[in-house]
Amino acid sequence: AELIAHIRTLMAREKAVLVAHYYTDGDLQALAEDSGGLVADSLEMARFGTETSAETLIVCGVRFMGETAKILNPEKRVLMPSLAATCSLDEGCPADAFSAFCDAHPERQVVVYANTSAAVKARSDWVVTSSIALPIIKHLHAQGEKILWAPDKHLGHYVQRVTGADMLLWDGACVVHEEFKGFALERMRRLHPDAAVLVHPESPDEVVNQADVIGSTTQLIRAVVDRPEQEFIVATDAGIFWKMQQLAPGKKLIPAPTAGEGATCESCAHCPWMAMNALQNLAQVLERGDQDIQIPEDIRVRAVQPIQRMLEFAR
Ligand code: MLT
Repeated sequence: AELIAHIRTLMAREKAVLVAHYYTDGDLQALAEDSGGLVADSLEMARFGTETSAETLIVCGVRFMGETAKILNPEKRVLMPSLAATCSLDEGCPADAFSAFCDAHPERQVVVYANTSAAVKARSDWVVTSSIALPIIKHLHAQGEKILWAPDKHLGHYVQRVTGADMLLWDGACVVHEEFKGFALERMRRLHPDAAVLVHPESPDEVVNQADVIGSTTQLIRAVVDRPEQEFIVATDAGIFWKMQQLAPGKKLIPAPTAGEGATCESCAHCPWMAMNALQNLAQVLERGDQDIQIPEDIRVRAVQPIQRMLEFAR
C-alpha cells in the first residue's frame, strides 16, 4: 500500500497516466484503473494514448506497445517500467529480412501485426491487432488485394481460413500461445464437459479447432461475461484472468493445458516479458524519469501512417 501511494504521488508530479495491458500483473491493472488510466488490449491502448491530455504515458506491457504510443504521440513522454520487455513475435521478424521479403512480393499489400518493431511497421501498408485483423483483411480481400502477412503464422492462418484471402505468411509465433497443446486440451475438455473453450488465435490450429470462441483478449473477456456457461477453459496469457474475474466473479476459469503439463494442469501460460512489469520498477522509472521510448523521426513518420489507417478503420 505504501509503494502504491508513493507511485500515485510520483504520477501526479510527472503528470503521468498509466496504461496497462490485460496480460500484466493484476496489481498494475488495478492501479491503472484506479488512477484514471486504462486496462486494455493493444488497439485500445493506442487509441487511449492519443486521447489523453497527460504529458507522460506510462505503458505497462511489452516494448512494441510503448513504441506505438510514441509513434502516435511524439510530443508526449512515453515511459516503460522495463525497456527489455520484448515480444517473441517482434524478435522473430527483423526489419532487414522482412523488408527483403516485401521487396520480393511487391504486388501484395503488407499487413503487419502490432507486435512488431517500429521499423517493420514503417515498411507496412496496414497495422492490425488481433481485435481488428479479421475485418481489415475482409475489407482488403473484398477489394481484390493479395496480402503479405507478418509475423504470427497461427493468427495469419486463422484469418486466411475465415476470410478466404490470398495471404502469404511470415513464419513467426508467440512463445506463450505456441505452448497450448491440442491433445491435452481434448482431455481437459472431457474432464470439464460443461465448460466453454475460449482460445486466442495466436494458438496452434489443433487448439483453435476446439474453441467455442476464438478471439482477441477483449473478445474473450466479453465471452466470459456474456455467455451462459459457468466454466471456461481459457487458452491465452494468464494475465487475462484478473479482468475476467473482476467482471464475472462467480464464474470458474480454468487455464488451458500447456506443453507437457497434462490434462489437470493448474499451472498457466504467462509471457516472461509482460512479467517484467512490476510495481517496483514502475516506481523506479517514475523516480528517475529514464526508460523513455525514442523512435528515429524518419521511421516514425512512415510507421504512423499504417497505424493511423487502422485507427481510422476501427472508428
Ligand atoms: C493485443 O492486441 O493486445 C494482443 O494481441 C492481445 C489481444 O488483445 O488479443
